[in-house]
Amino acid sequence: MYTHSSQYWTNHFTHNATFERVDWAIQPQLSDGQRKRILKSLQAWQLGETSEGAHLIAAAKKYANRTHDFIFPIAVELFIKEEQKHGHNLGRYLDLIGEKRIEQDWGDSLFRKIRYFNTSMELWTLAVITVESSAQLFYQSLKDATGCPLLKQICDDILIDEERHIDFQAERMLAIYRSHHWSIRWFAFQIYRVFFFSTAAVVWFGHHKVLSVGSPTFGRYMKDMGRKFADTFGLIRKETEIAKHLVPMR
Ligand SMILES: [Fe+2]
Ligand SMILES: [Fe+2]
Repeated sequence: MYTHSSQYWTNHFTHNATFERVDWAIQPQLSDGQRKRILKSLQAWQLGETSEGAHLIAAAKKYANRTHDFIFPIAVELFIKEEQKHGHNLGRYLDLIGEKRIEQDWGDSLFRKIRYFNTSMELWTLAVITVESSAQLFYQSLKDATGCPLLKQICDDILIDEERHIDFQAERMLAIYRSHHWSIRWFAFQIYRVFFFSTAAVVWFGHHKVLSVGSPTFGRYMKDMGRKFADTFGLIRKETEIAKHLVPMR
């Protein structure tokens, strides 16, 4: 895993914000059946993407003070802006199809409560990678759930952004995991695993109507999530193990 600087990520998010990948001149096309299948989840994810991110920025600043990486909170702020763009686009779509934007959802409330108490960059990063891994499956399924070209464009735009979000977060996770003494790494990894898969199951519980487009059964979905876990956390552990065996050159 190649690790980029916070300046790199700041440049990336700034550059990515200049692309407009959604053609809003396209009219939404949604059958009643499709609308019924996706609406509740669409509203919940729209709300989830709209967070102002104050607690995450606070955690990022605390982390920056410790690591002297003062550009990092700027990258995090731009990252949050990109999430807000997702919320904004989904909200605009809801307006166009004549449905309301919701203000409360049990999944969002639960996540907000956890966020409130969370000032640790490690837990934040763990939570964000977990949610983004399920977001990748969710938006791919949402894209395939309907024939609506506008919604497909919105999902494509989100999927392009999310792929880099995972890279951004995984690099942070690697740095944090490596900073742990070897004796607690095993324990930390078990926490990652339990959190990741229990959260994944909760997401399925709330959004299986859409998720089942791409992952027909719960078992298949957990397997798909398992692949995502291996690609991020599995890789982080493997690379840390390899680094341990490398003898520094003199
Ligand atoms: Fe997002
Ligand atoms: Fe994201």
